[in-house]
Amino acid sequence: MKIGICITAVITLGCSIGFAQPTAKLTVDATAPVATVSPRLYGLMTEEINYSYDGGLYAEMIRNRTFTPQTDQWRPVVDDGAKISWEQVKEGPSKALDHSLKVTIAAASASAAAGLANNGYWGMAVRPSTTYAGSFYASTQGVGPATLRLVNDNTGKVVAQAKVETTDDGWHQYRFSMTTGAQVKAGEDNHFTITFNRPGTAMLQLISLLPPTYHDRANGNRPDLMKLMAAMNPHFLRFPGGNYLEGNIIKDRFDWKSTIGPMVDRPTHQSPWGYRSTDGMGLLEFLEWCEDLKMEPLLAVYAGYSLRGEHVTGAELRLYIQDALDEIEYVTGGTDTRWGAERAKDGHPEPFPLHYIEIGNEDFFDRSGSYEQRFPAFAEAIRKKYPQYKLIATTPVKSGDPDLLDDHYYRSPEEFYGMVHKYDTADRNGPKIFVGEWATRTGSPTPDFDAALGDAAWMTGMERNSDLILMASYAPMFVNVNPGGMQWATDLMGYDASRAYGSPSYWAQVLFAEHLGDHTVKTTAESLSDRVFWSATVTGNKMLHLKLVNATDQMQRFSMEIVGAASGTAAGRELHAGSKWETNTIDHPDQVVPQPVKVTVPSGAWSYELPANAIQVLEVPLRGR
Ligand code: AHR
Repeated sequence: MKIGICITAVITLGCSIGFAQPTAKLTVDATAPVATVSPRLYGLMTEEINYSYDGGLYAEMIRNRTFTPQTDQWRPVVDDGAKISWEQVKEGPSKALDHSLKVTIAAASASAAAGLANNGYWGMAVRPSTTYAGSFYASTQGVGPATLRLVNDNTGKVVAQAKVETTDDGWHQYRFSMTTGAQVKAGEDNHFTITFNRPGTAMLQLISLLPPTYHDRANGNRPDLMKLMAAMNPHFLRFPGGNYLEGNIIKDRFDWKSTIGPMVDRPTHQSPWGYRSTDGMGLLEFLEWCEDLKMEPLLAVYAGYSLRGEHVTGAELRLYIQDALDEIEYVTGGTDTRWGAERAKDGHPEPFPLHYIEIGNEDFFDRSGSYEQRFPAFAEAIRKKYPQYKLIATTPVKSGDPDLLDDHYYRSPEEFYGMVHKYDTADRNGPKIFVGEWATRTGSPTPDFDAALGDAAWMTGMERNSDLILMASYAPMFVNVNPGGMQWATDLMGYDASRAYGSPSYWAQVLFAEHLGDHTVKTTAESLSDRVFWSATVTGNKMLHLKLVNATDQMQRFSMEIVGAASGTAAGRELHAGSKWETNTIDHPDQVVPQPVKVTVPSGAWSYELPANAIQVLEVPLRGR
């Protein structure tokens, strides 16, 4: 056996000269295909949890913009000599927003303003030379023009402002924009004010302020979080939940028809994660998010069961089935259909692509057993109208013939190491698998390197079984790291009002998704540690993607042979940490990030050194065949 010569470039990597040939060996036969890899294996799962949209991806800066509940997050601002009182009143600009905050200004003048302030979602991100687009609904009497400002919390300095005339003739939407100066310091210690300089009354509703958004969408998303997701090469987005789909009670389900159209027609609703959702991220916004990141929607429809056990069966189910059919039509229908026309009216005449529909969420929690009735009822109605779609059941069912089952795994690293071969021997004749939620749960608010190792090990198992596991999505994806922002302790990406970062687990997914491959190839291991994991896939018989995971604290030396490799250099990236507890944080976002690696691949076998606590992804060019 020949020992190859290794040249290390970018960082020291995996090759050794002059060591005795190790007894452990990994052989990858890149010329021996085993199974297809699903092209849509890696995607995203999302729901309103941990301030994922409000206070997260959805760029709205004003918190509690609809005064629901009441004055939460608002406070009066009253200059010396001015006087103000406020009350919630049962009058508003629309049926959905049928209430407002009535501000009565007993005294105010050109030098003594009175009004309201809002601190946003733990501050408001302000950047230099940036334009913010705002609007509000008001019905005024006598108060005169409204002044809108962004104000620095620490200095009290106004960093941007606008003035809007009001007309005392009922409800109007007023729009404004304001631009920060070039000297303004970027940061999140800012708040918003709306004030008046004359006595009178102003009923206020839906006060909104948005910074520039990804792709400049009018009601859009934060660019930094969109870019983080784009780097994950996601193929689909599972939405709108999760528990958020179901709601605690039926009334609080994701009732998609209340989340479309102008904001003033969206009543907002209670999320099961302890706060109210603005529904600014409504059905169309989910779809546009998919469009912006070139992902396919994986639509989960409400299936008549809510978290506290309320459920629907029999004839009553028809209403919910019809809602699901209408929802599918909103997503996919031509403009000549009732709901396709509604989508066009909302600004998107083009239908969206759709292949997969999930019916419910985690219905194994429904102890009544009603899913045995609900799933087939939904499946029959959907297939009758839309035979082309694949239907996903959230737990095994006796009838209704699901195309896929959604399996969820929240585990420790050790548990995932033990599950890496779980699907190797699974039945290939039944439904395919969608791992719709999975995560290794160590580290908080975002996972540490220990978790990334568990994730990477688990992903090698999913890739190897990707003829069966067609799709997989980590959950939850987002967390606002401010105190009170988190409801679930381990989340893929963290942020505050102005900064965002990816956890080591995020980077592990970036690496894996960058190198998916289209089929797996044969691998043989002899005497490798049971904490070393690997996946070998090939793209077009040209490139081998070799993923190696060392979940031990010791460097692992083994003999490596890649049959079919073109002798030369393999380039790749490595995620490595000094200890399993290393992590990224909002203040130290780049502690554990991928580094480039290069390794010379000789013909035959060579001695390979895989660093301790490391996840490597190598691209090995193959001999032309
Ligand atoms: O991801 C957090 C929650 O875990 C989801 O809402 C739910 O589906 C699961 O129980």
